[in-house]
Amino acid sequence: MKRILLDTDGGRGVVSPRVLLFGVMKKRISPAKAFGGVLLVPGDKSISHRYAILASLAEGSSEIFNFSAAADCTSTLACLRGLGVKIEEKAGSVVIEGKGLGGWKAPRKALDAENSGTTMRLLVGALAGQGFSSELTGDKSLRRRPMRRVIEPLRKMGAEIRARDDEFAPLEIQGAKLHGIEYAPKVASAQLKSAVLLAGLFADGETVIHEPVRTRDHTEIALRELGATVELVAVRNGDRNGNAIRLQGRPKLVGRPLGVPGDLSAAVFFLGAALAVPGTELTIQSVGLNPTRTAILDLLVSMGAAISVIAVATRNGELVGDINVRHAPLRGGKVSGAMVARVIDELPMLAALGPYTEEGIEIRDAQELRVKESDRIAAMAENLRLMGAHVEEFPDGLRVAGRSAGRLHGATIDPHDDHRIAMAFSIAALGAERETVIRDAECVGISFPGFYDLLAGLVKLGA
Ligand code: S3P
Repeated sequence: MKRILLDTDGGRGVVSPRVLLFGVMKKRISPAKAFGGVLLVPGDKSISHRYAILASLAEGSSEIFNFSAAADCTSTLACLRGLGVKIEEKAGSVVIEGKGLGGWKAPRKALDAENSGTTMRLLVGALAGQGFSSELTGDKSLRRRPMRRVIEPLRKMGAEIRARDDEFAPLEIQGAKLHGIEYAPKVASAQLKSAVLLAGLFADGETVIHEPVRTRDHTEIALRELGATVELVAVRNGDRNGNAIRLQGRPKLVGRPLGVPGDLSAAVFFLGAALAVPGTELTIQSVGLNPTRTAILDLLVSMGAAISVIAVATRNGELVGDINVRHAPLRGGKVSGAMVARVIDELPMLAALGPYTEEGIEIRDAQELRVKESDRIAAMAENLRLMGAHVEEFPDGLRVAGRSAGRLHGATIDPHDDHRIAMAFSIAALGAERETVIRDAECVGISFPGFYDLLAGLVKLGA
């Protein structure tokens, strides 16, 4: 088997600023024959954001190993530098000099989260409790994404935040004295939960969150690693059955070495590659297997995928292991209800696998996809149709017909500047007839700068 590894720096800096600015890169993907290999994917994006933010609020320095090279995480580092945090980027790690909960300085200009929803939504929570005012802005896509879901609970905690149309960035935050709340969000969002928890660090008393559906719990785990008291408590009263997350305000966070597992949401594209190309077998090493993220593995297995997880260990409270995938025909099926939040970032890849399945893929109750980096439902439907798939679009999802509707063919894909759309169609292209062209392909750098290099190490990309 071929052994393909990313550089030890996880591909940091592979995408030049010029390419990022002007969007000039086209990638040609040829149909692939069976391939195999052992690979590493970049550090988890969600965890990297949290480690950087929390380390900056801890006392003492933290070296974060395998920190994600994603442009989104670089945006978080840039915002933290704007708040006076000293950060050293080394090959393979990032060292954050924490100054304690009261250590951030008033920024001299607006903090730019660029394309990163996680950066903006998490930072607004922490900024709400500071003794200074600040402004958070972002690129065109981020300035269109909903922010009231975070502003609302923060206001209940005493925050003073102004937004365009009371919904969109730029956000003006007047630091205020915060108090803990008990809150039951309507939207299942880990970013929302994390914003409230980060504000809760600066609040008097306890902050309690009742999630409608359990979302990724990396913030809770990282907080515990650094010394905060965060509990998951069973709640049984009236309509509040389930779990609540309880955080004690004003903890002392202490910096420490932290290791970021590989990003399962990046690994999923390579699982998709094995499922789209008969005869393929891949092993992806050291991937984060936090149970709030692994629903995609269960789902693919329930559809017939040959996936096994090996050598599982715990690092900094997070499960990590190797994933082996062998090509097997997929039955297809439906994703809806509570499942959606648990596979939200994997839905582009799943939809793009629809034409490779027996029964097709249907995704419903997923209106959140319309307010991601792009309107992912529209982008999926448009590009799948360009490749010859039969697609029905709904306000809350789509239905993609299976194999009997015919084989996909190459097309020119517009990813709408959305990394996960570009990667999903690069993979769909591997099993299609003729060559596919991915326009503005550099957008993959938002989460996975080394994506095409890694793919090119496994299959021959087009000229
Ligand atoms: C993320 C949470 C999810 C996910 C996003 C990353 C996080 O967003 O889609 O890519 O790191 O907390 P929502 O919280 O909006 O569901």
